[in-house]
Amino acid sequence: MIILGIESSCDETGVALYHTEKGLLGAALHSQIDMHRLYGGVVPELASRDHIRRIIPLLDQVFEEAKISKKDVDAIAVTEGPGLAGALLVGTSVGYAIGLALNKPVIGVQHMEGHLYSCLLAGEKPDFPFIALLVSGGHTQIMKVAAPGQYELLGETLDDAVGEAFDKTAQALGESYPGGPAVSRFAEQGTPGAIVLPRPLLHADNLDFSFSGLKTAVMNTIRLAPDPTDPKFKNDLARAFVDSVTEVIVKKTVKALKKTGYKSLVVAGGVSANKQLREGLTRACTKIGVKVFFPPLALCTDNGAMIAAAAANHLDKLKASPQNGFSIKPRWSLEDSQ
Ligand code: KG4
Ligand code: ZN
Repeated sequence: MIILGIESSCDETGVALYHTEKGLLGAALHSQIDMHRLYGGVVPELASRDHIRRIIPLLDQVFEEAKISKKDVDAIAVTEGPGLAGALLVGTSVGYAIGLALNKPVIGVQHMEGHLYSCLLAGEKPDFPFIALLVSGGHTQIMKVAAPGQYELLGETLDDAVGEAFDKTAQALGESYPGGPAVSRFAEQGTPGAIVLPRPLLHADNLDFSFSGLKTAVMNTIRLAPDPTDPKFKNDLARAFVDSVTEVIVKKTVKALKKTGYKSLVVAGGVSANKQLREGLTRACTKIGVKVFFPPLALCTDNGAMIAAAAANHLDKLKASPQNGFSIKPRWSLEDSQ
């Protein structure tokens, strides 16, 4: 079965063709980062307009790469939510229009479920049950995934998402949006322990996170620094930030694994590209005999392939999908999508 996946929930227009047996047949992506960088973050109206401009050429590109015609597609998967309403409307209207024109089923995919299934695109597939750690610009969640489509939230952030904390730390260090990769690069050059930041909720008896206090601690450290532009200071502060985030996330994830007794961990979302977090989780999981699955680096951030891969997990839903009308869900949790 060939599924056309379309993602347009935020600042990436992603289109991909996924074969349920052969894997990815083609993928095309346009990132709006350069456009939004000028404003220090995503401007929703500009995002929608850019998705409109990009989506048809990207579709043409992906069909050409896969060397198949639109008629060969068996189903269409589009991100239905959560995300920016105007941006979601672009991908869903195009997806449902193609479905209507070709008389093919269309399924609305929950964006975080897409991230979750991005690890399928790495080749080795995790067996159920597993713990899912979802870390992105808008989410920080630990989910118990007992079976396909069965999600139970075990813990989440009480304030900022971890990706948001990376972006704000980068901004405070003079780096442009989105700053996760820059903070990670600085941290590699920094000295562990040269600066120490708090570990929020590390010892709390739950699986929740809080990153806004950490962000304030970063700001205060910069305010009190004799020379905040000193490269050594920037590297050491980035190191302190990354070490704090990694320690808290690793400890809570291990707690969730021990609590459930599950032997597999799936990590997904933009921050799953982070080198230090990958290393910390891999080390901790090896120690307790847990197998950890990450998406391929290029598919950690938003893309169309993960949306098609998630839909492949819902073939029954796909076959029964209605053709008349469609919706978007700008606020839609993974648990509510079951
Ligand atoms: O999943 P994603 O593409 O979009 C959302 O659904 O939010 O995640 C984007 C987030 C941004 O906050 C970005 O700074 C972060 O992922 N990110 C990283 C890295 N690459 C992307 N954070 C830390 N280290 C990275 N290497
Ligand atoms: Zn995302």
